[in-house]
Amino acid sequence: MNKLTTIAMAVVMLLCVACKEQPVPPEFIDKKSQKDIAMENLLTRRSVRQYTDQMPPKEVIEEICKAGMYAPTGMNRQSPIIIAVTNKEMRDSLSRLNARVLENDSIDPFYGAPVVLVVLADKDTSHTYLEDGSLVMGNLMNAAHAMGLGSCWIHRAKEVFETEEGKQILADLGIEGNYVGIGNCILGYVAGEYPKAKPRKDNWVYWVE
Ligand SMILES: Cc1cc2nc3c(=O)[nH]c(=O)nc-3n(C[C@H](O)[C@H](O)[C@H](O)COP(=O)(O)O)c2cc1C
Repeated sequence: MNKLTTIAMAVVMLLCVACKEQPVPPEFIDKKSQKDIAMENLLTRRSVRQYTDQMPPKEVIEEICKAGMYAPTGMNRQSPIIIAVTNKEMRDSLSRLNARVLENDSIDPFYGAPVVLVVLADKDTSHTYLEDGSLVMGNLMNAAHAMGLGSCWIHRAKEVFETEEGKQILADLGIEGNYVGIGNCILGYVAGEYPKAKPRKDNWVYWVE
């Protein structure tokens, strides 16, 4: 390497360091914009039914699961669990079992999404298991949207985990307890056009002032 190249490389490196975006210290973050960002995320999340094959990074899926873990639960009993499936064989088995509930073996109810976060909740841990698990599902979908991923609640987890195959999946994972399937949160990168929100009905909110 000649002297000129070395100097040029040093200048480029210095420029890179100088230009690198510095994280904004929390005390300087405008609270209003935080609120706007949170609201926008809630209002723009949509159910996505078209995915690419690309697998999201594990750290992103972990972050999404973390959001699920911080959902409120009745008396903080934390009745739900999440089975994070990135394994294609298991993903396909769950899809097949789900399709079987629909009595239509020819479809993929997971719309080609590469990741499935199955939420189950222990009936014996809390009488609010269904609400607990549903709130976990909500957090997962909203967090996925915030992380730039598409998601959709795919139902019939209850029926799937009532089958012998479903029960065997839990047993093989060493999951013991009276777990009921709440929902499957499918995840992946959005393919095609991002869906638009349907109009809201008129009588959503009744005010008592
Ligand atoms: C409890 C529940 C079950 C759902 N099950 C399915 C499903 O099995 N398949 C599917 O494609 N979408 C399912 N969805 C997604 C809804 O169809 C979707 O949320 C609704 O059409 C509104 O669209 P949005 O999520 O884009 O606002 C489910 C949603 C909920 C809350």
